[in-house]
Amino acid sequence: MPLERTFSIIKPDATRRNLTGKINAKFEEAGLRIIAQKRIHLSKAQAGVFYKVHAERPFYDELCQFMASEPIICQVLEGEGAISKNREVMGATNPADAAVGTIRADFAESVGENSVHGSDAPETAAEEIAYFFSGLELVG
Ligand code: CDP
Ligand code: MG
Repeated sequence: MPLERTFSIIKPDATRRNLTGKINAKFEEAGLRIIAQKRIHLSKAQAGVFYKVHAERPFYDELCQFMASEPIICQVLEGEGAISKNREVMGATNPADAAVGTIRADFAESVGENSVHGSDAPETAAEEIAYFFSGLELVG
């Protein structure tokens, strides 16, 4: 497994419930290192750019509204096979389908308000990291 970096967001439903530490513990227990992290409050327009791949989906407007509703924690996670490992730790998009012990099984409130985002491929990971962080902020 190559050493990889992936982009992660702790979403507004989780920051609102003070779950940042509990979610970070899941990443660290899985061997993912948090090599960059910051708390920001997105505008709806910034959320729209981040989720532009979903612009035609019926849930897009609600998703952008939600992502701009409260602060989020943006992160870069590093580890062997970090992209797929993080997707495993996150669990399925819909918490009803998420495996026991995953972040979404334990914490997500609904398919929309599902506590975390994680990149799905090397190309999206690179694009998403560059949208939120400068190279100087990545300390591996
Ligand atoms: O986040 P993930 O990659 O697992 O799922 P996605 O299919 O890329 O969808 C992005 C986000 O849109 C999800 O995490 C949900 O917050 C939201 N979504 C939704 O509100 N309703 C759906 N039916 C599917 C996704
Ligand atoms: Mg996705």
